[in-house]
Amino acid sequence: MSVSAARGSTVQAPRLLAGIQPGRALSLVEHQARLGPLVLDRGLVDEVEAAGLRGRGGAAFDTATKLRAVAGRRRPLLVANAAEGEPASGKDKALLRATPQLVLDGVVATAYAVGAREAIVAVAAGARRELESVARALVERRDDPVRVRIETVPDGFVTGEETALLNALQSRAAKPSVKPPYPFERGLNGAPTIVQNVETLAHVALIARYGATWFRGAGSGEAPGTALVTLGGAVRRGGILEIELGSTLGDVLARAGGATEPLAGVLVGGYFGRWVSAADAPGLRLVPEILGAGAVVALPASACGVAEAARVVRYLAGESAGQCGPCSHGLRAIGTAFAELETSPDASRARLERWTSQVRGRGACRHPDGVATFVESFLTVFEPELARHARRGRCGAPTRGWLPIGGRAA
Ligand SMILES: Cc1cc2nc3c(=O)[nH]c(=O)nc-3n(C[C@H](O)[C@H](O)[C@H](O)COP(=O)(O)O)c2cc1C
Ligand code: SF4
Repeated sequence: MSVSAARGSTVQAPRLLAGIQPGRALSLVEHQARLGPLVLDRGLVDEVEAAGLRGRGGAAFDTATKLRAVAGRRRPLLVANAAEGEPASGKDKALLRATPQLVLDGVVATAYAVGAREAIVAVAAGARRELESVARALVERRDDPVRVRIETVPDGFVTGEETALLNALQSRAAKPSVKPPYPFERGLNGAPTIVQNVETLAHVALIARYGATWFRGAGSGEAPGTALVTLGGAVRRGGILEIELGSTLGDVLARAGGATEPLAGVLVGGYFGRWVSAADAPGLRLVPEILGAGAVVALPASACGVAEAARVVRYLAGESAGQCGPCSHGLRAIGTAFAELETSPDASRARLERWTSQVRGRGACRHPDGVATFVESFLTVFEPELARHARRGRCGAPTRGWLPIGGRAA
């Protein structure tokens, strides 16, 4: 593949992970030899808009709209979100380990374009290798017009929510704040702040080099570009894949060597995503609003879906920041009712349906909404399994932890 640094070029160029050896970070010299020099330009926001880039942190929000919200404000700040608290996701950590300079290019190019003189890369305290990788990369960069520093934030599912992240960076508890004010209005230390996922910033670094037309050379018209996916569960070769948006889930599973055994369902979009039946999975188009932060887990039919999912619901209830009543009490009750699906599905199902609709939109952040989507889509996709539990009670399949609730996905 050839590479050109010219904006508007339509030549093929490597994307985020093409040609990269996992396990060793590229030095600045190797990185620049691979991709060419970084182009800093205040017109980058227009290019990001033309590229149609949407955030890769989960909400799939239009990136240019966020950049415009802080551009031109007094002393804006940029925070690169590398918290990656979702246990089923490892793509941000993989990016930080393999190509930290690409992430830092995205940080610097974005900060420069919106007029921010300072930027922070926020990494979970437990992500030791990633912290070292970014720290080493930062030492190599001396000529950036933006002051970039690394900060650690507590591990935890909710820490990566943008206002929780900003609270953690101000030495407060890593709990979300009620919005408004939004971070772009009053963020870190009161300054207008933009929070972007590290993968989003890595795409910006490529758009800064090769332009919007190049970016749109992969993916579909509605869903341009590529995205990182953390693929886990019953597949032959799980791990981190870079896919073209708009690919089908069937294509992605095939790239991973296919399923190791018949599947009961696939969780798409991680613990804020939704379950898809084994029959619907192959044809599902992976667009940003479905892919979320990119975690995909294939659950085999040999597992007890109810018991496996119950562990996750219990885990998510425990990760509530405990400051909004409907979230902390509601999710605990949902966790208990979900566990009872194993023995008395009909009664607990009715309670779950009522309670998930009651917690939606009732928190300072979208944590309860995410759990509600996980539970409701489970009840639909695992209908046959629930009917079996209603007839025979516990199925007795061992709980193997197909859905990770701690540790690292990659
Ligand atoms: C409970 C919760 C946890 C989140 N965790 C993360 C995270 O670990 N990393 C991340 O980039 N975004 C996370 N987000 C989304 C952020 O709030 C924010 O939308 C994102 O960092 C913006 O970046 P993007 O526009 O580039 O996607 C989380 C959101 C919620 C509600
Ligand atoms: S909704 Fe839940 S996780 Fe979000 S701020 Fe409220 S208590 Fe915390």
